[in-house]
Amino acid sequence: MSNNQLPVFAGAAAFAVAVHLLLDHLKSKKSAAPKGSSCEAPANPANRSYLIGGNWKCNTTTSSALSLVSTLNSSGPIPTNCTVVVGVPYPYLSLVRSSLRSDIELAAQDCAHSSKMGAFTGEVNVEQLKDVGCTWVILGHSERRTGFGGDAGETSDLIAGKTLTAVGAGLKVMLCVGETLEERESGKTLAVVKSQLDPVVKVLKASDWGSVAIAYEPVWAIGTGKTATPEMAQETHAEIRSYISTVLGSAVAAKIQIQYGGSMKAANCKALLAQPDIDGGLIGGASLKPEFADVFRGMM
Ligand SMILES: *[C@@H]1O[C@H](CO)[C@@H](O)[C@H](O)[C@H]1NC(C)=O
Ligand SMILES: *[C@@H]1O[C@H](CO)[C@@H](O)[C@H](O)[C@H]1NC(C)=O
Ligand SMILES: *[C@@H]1O[C@H](CO)[C@@H](O)[C@H](O)[C@H]1NC(C)=O
Ligand SMILES: *[C@@H]1O[C@H](CO)[C@@H](O)[C@H](O)[C@H]1NC(C)=O
Repeated sequence: MSNNQLPVFAGAAAFAVAVHLLLDHLKSKKSAAPKGSSCEAPANPANRSYLIGGNWKCNTTTSSALSLVSTLNSSGPIPTNCTVVVGVPYPYLSLVRSSLRSDIELAAQDCAHSSKMGAFTGEVNVEQLKDVGCTWVILGHSERRTGFGGDAGETSDLIAGKTLTAVGAGLKVMLCVGETLEERESGKTLAVVKSQLDPVVKVLKASDWGSVAIAYEPVWAIGTGKTATPEMAQETHAEIRSYISTVLGSAVAAKIQIQYGGSMKAANCKALLAQPDIDGGLIGGASLKPEFADVFRGMM
């Protein structure tokens, strides 16, 4: 997915389009609601608000980040019932926070296991992330779980520890889970997701879950030519919510936002967001192509 320009652009375009389709979606719901300034439509029948995250991954430079910020700045109003967050590489967090419109929140794409300053070469801790204006952190992305260039990747226990550190510091977490093609085809989807969630369930207090969104990434739907239909995505989201209900109770399950992270794009985001258990998206790759702004303008 991230190995050539086109899908990266598609991710960026999808992010822009998702925000705008969401706006349209909420407008259309609102038009059916009674008039009045306080009657913004609820996000979905379960009253959860939407969470749209953009994940820039290992992309952007100073100038392309600023150009993306400028595009986001002029992308029009964000609905009341929607939180928009961008996940930015460490070197550009400060820069983006100081130039991005204030109604878009900032996420890091990882954090250190320890919240302490110290002899942890190469790590960035949650206090540093807060210091530069992050309110969110993306944890356990499938790419980090898999590892890069011979690095073994992160275990679910490590990710659980990082999640505890982040919520303990007052950051919100987009916790990524999801199965590979092989795992789906052998019927292990829920077992895999459970094995990724269980270590987190073990370490967090029930009240901590208010700071966690689950980003479900069907890894098999990315770059394989296979796609999840909105119904397939809904089915897994409902199973995840039902599992959360079993282990954490129905109140946590009813509240938790579950984002879809399997190639949400213009063509499918409306159908995906209409599903009762899909509360947003975690949308990969953002670019600074001129076409990106055209997509925004085209949607206005
Ligand atoms: C959603 O919110 C509305 C307005 O506050 C309320 O009437 C309705 O019962 C809520 N629905 C659910 C499923 O909680
Ligand atoms: C939607 O927005 C309205 C108005 O700001 C707010 O009262 C309501 O609680 C929101 N609903 C959700 C689900 O966030
Ligand atoms: C983005 O908008 C903010 C104000 O909302 C402004 O201060 C900032 O300069 C803009 N940044 C860019 C890169 O356009
Ligand atoms: C993002 O990374 C890809 C490599 O996966 C690269 O081709 C592309 O140019 C990058 N995009 C930006 C905006 O830096």
